[in-house]
Amino acid sequence: MNIDEMDANHSWHPFTQMQEYLEKPRIQIDRGLGSWLWDTNGKKYMDASASIWTNVHGHNHPELNKAITDQLNKVAHSTMLGVTHPLASKLSQKLTQLSPPALTRCFFSDNGSNAVEIALKMSFQYWQLKGKNEKVEVLGLEDAYHGDTFGTMSVGDCGDFHKRFQPWFFSSNKIPRPTCDELSGVETNIQLDLSLNALETKLSKDHEKIACFIMEPSVQGSAGMQLHPKSYLKKASQLCKKYKVHLIVDEVFVGFGRLGSLLISTKEEIQPDFICCAKGLTAGYIPLAATLTTEKIFSTFLGKFSEFKTLFHGHTFTGNPLGCAVALKSIELLENKIHTTELNGSIQCFAKHFMKFKDQVSFCSKHARQRGMVAAVDLHPPFKAEEKFPLDLRFGSQVCLEARKHNLLLRPLGDSLLIVPPLCITKDEISELFSNLVLSINKTLSQLKQ
Ligand SMILES: Cc1ncc(COP(=O)(O)O)c(C=O)c1O
Repeated sequence: MNIDEMDANHSWHPFTQMQEYLEKPRIQIDRGLGSWLWDTNGKKYMDASASIWTNVHGHNHPELNKAITDQLNKVAHSTMLGVTHPLASKLSQKLTQLSPPALTRCFFSDNGSNAVEIALKMSFQYWQLKGKNEKVEVLGLEDAYHGDTFGTMSVGDCGDFHKRFQPWFFSSNKIPRPTCDELSGVETNIQLDLSLNALETKLSKDHEKIACFIMEPSVQGSAGMQLHPKSYLKKASQLCKKYKVHLIVDEVFVGFGRLGSLLISTKEEIQPDFICCAKGLTAGYIPLAATLTTEKIFSTFLGKFSEFKTLFHGHTFTGNPLGCAVALKSIELLENKIHTTELNGSIQCFAKHFMKFKDQVSFCSKHARQRGMVAAVDLHPPFKAEEKFPLDLRFGSQVCLEARKHNLLLRPLGDSLLIVPPLCITKDEISELFSNLVLSINKTLSQLKQ
């Protein structure tokens, strides 16, 4: 059996209709360097989804590799249940230094869903420990995605992805999400009040019953890169403070350089009760996540064992030393890129090329949006902006399959093209990315006519 047959006969891939997958050409990634990946046949692809929005400094980065191998030569894994290791201590301190001042405590886990589950459990238990047993409701935003575990599905709003599991969800209320468009840093079509008014109405009525409000700041990635007006986060945070409801900021996607800064909460000068980090935390190298919280919340869990105030939650690979090693090195490199404005220069170049791209494909796409190193368009039949492609045509997916022929690897969301390259992408690579994407769209459209 060759490796392709091994995959076809035995693997089951995440978020993948396997019938479709098994009918289409498959690739196996063998190695990477910078923004590029090579398959086992030696074909090269630009990693235009940053390996699902994680990659920061590129693949096979010598300094990141060294950080891992240095630690590997000491110990690959040791538990954090009751003991620790130097890199977890250093990374806890570093992450709390990067956070707004009130967040002084860091709880590690191993993926974004878990980072969110932990924040939810901490919030829930905090109110119980404070004797506020009625504070059990959760508020979230429409179209939110916080992960695929039952807790995160319950507080998210992912329509077709999750609705099958609804009977097992705990109830949570959804607030309309704020909306805007943005190109080259200019916000337009700002819709803020509907969301803020709904949030205030709900909080003023039910704050005695609400434990927390959870939101993805600035960009709702899995909703299709839907942008919030930048002022929303601060205003929502002020409402949560006013009504004494915890604010959980899910920075799993937007943290660690994706929008040009390390943490959005720090940049926007808010003081949330929890921040969740994963994905870019380890530059896309190793699964590691962190939930940051305040001393006020942490100290509420202190007491004699017999009081059962302990947070009974943990994962086997929590705070893995290799993950901590690469996270510390990545943050050091990223701080330098932000300080020297190198990252900002790349984002400006990305914005400029995206403007040209969206004009080139405006006959078959709408709702072009870009913030930081994130961009998206929604594809539609040529010159028929009000129409959609039939669902089973899988047009977005066809464009991405065509793109592989032009050395581009990316993953669509339905007929939305999401462009999320590694932050290390060079100016020439940005130009290549967009010209190959135009080519792929045009070729797929011309194949439709045949
Ligand atoms: C905002 C946000 N939160 C949570 C998650 C879940 O992270 P993970 O896939 O690591 O569980 C994601 C994943 O895309 C995300 O975008």
